[in-house]
Amino acid sequence: MTGPADQTATTSPAPAPAGAAPAGPRGAANRRGPFRAGERVQLTDERGRMNTVTLADEGEFHSHRGVLPHSELIGRPEGTVVENSAGFRYQALRPLLKDFVLSMPRGAAVVYPKDAGQIVTMADIFPGARVVEAGVGSGALSISLLRAVGDEGHLHSFERREEFADIARGNVETMFGGPHPAWRISIGDLAEELGEQEEPGSVDRVVLDMLAPWECLDAVATALAPGGVVICYVATVTQLSRTAEAMRADGRFTEPDASETMVRGWHVEGLAVRPDHRMVAHTGFLISARRLADGSERLAPKRRASKSEFSQEDLDAWTPVALGERDVSGKKLRRAGREALGLAERAARAGGGSTAGVLGDGPETAPQAPAGPAAEGEERERP
Ligand SMILES: C[S@@+](CC[C@H](N)C(=O)[O-])C[C@H]1O[C@@H](n2cnc3c(N)ncnc32)[C@H](O)[C@@H]1O
Repeated sequence: MTGPADQTATTSPAPAPAGAAPAGPRGAANRRGPFRAGERVQLTDERGRMNTVTLADEGEFHSHRGVLPHSELIGRPEGTVVENSAGFRYQALRPLLKDFVLSMPRGAAVVYPKDAGQIVTMADIFPGARVVEAGVGSGALSISLLRAVGDEGHLHSFERREEFADIARGNVETMFGGPHPAWRISIGDLAEELGEQEEPGSVDRVVLDMLAPWECLDAVATALAPGGVVICYVATVTQLSRTAEAMRADGRFTEPDASETMVRGWHVEGLAVRPDHRMVAHTGFLISARRLADGSERLAPKRRASKSEFSQEDLDAWTPVALGERDVSGKKLRRAGREALGLAERAARAGGGSTAGVLGDGPETAPQAPAGPAAEGEERERP
């Protein structure tokens, strides 16, 4: 296919002077043109194994199969195939958003791309929207939300732990090549902070990815505009049912909708066309509802009180540990934060954007995160 998009993809945008905001929507310039020092590049070998490297003028990618100087890539177009010192070939491409979130530094389980895509669509995140998100974790979902609201929108992200906010800030700035104009992070518990920081009825969309979203629903209903959407991402059915009942009990929401998304890859080669043997079978559930106008009552089939109502004993069993929360040490989070902010600094140098709060430099090579088990030190079990 030819057209303007193809032409821009092969021209080399001159990076803006250091400190200046690049022209065009935030992050667009660093998705195009030849490779530049400071950028993250994904190297895929002939067997499909991936490594992500951050390009540096004097840098080298070492593996047990030889050495590849970064200078072989800097200045070359995306999609270049290069050979290392031992003749092994690698295909070099910028990571797409879906690749980036699975290889970036993280301290908590991230929202997987399949779920992030659903969240953006099901919650109707539109350009210019005023969106609230909590918690931020490693910032994977924040990146998708920022792309959807665009430079003219507002994403106000709340996170209880400062260390997570540092990791997220680094990852967001690496992805966009500098701070995003639509983004603001506040440290604190959403249930306490939302009412302090956002006017009642002023928020279009709220996205919750946390252990106990039901604790925040009162604040969310107060902040949402009539017709606004709340969507919650939860890992277990017990969280799902408790969230649904809390939405109903609040009385200010429509009847909730719940779903899960399964994506099954396919092997397509000659006559061997079949589903992949392995897949990410479970990540989480989505549950969403709309804010009713004040004074209106939810329309839903009348339910008789039944034995399926929760008892206090049931509620007491829902402790963070019982729900699978793991305590991540501050030391691990600070290490991931230093790595994320270091990568952001290098991305800003590559793209000409400015960055704040830089703590250190990231490693030479970050292996692609496995699609299956949770990475070490994640806040709770999730693939
Ligand atoms: C699973 S992580 C979020 C991952 C994130 N959505 C991503 O894609 O990278 C959950 C985060 O929620 C935070 N959190 C939990 N309850 C919260 C609350 N009430 N207010 C603010 N943050 C909260 C935790 O500290 C943790 O960082």
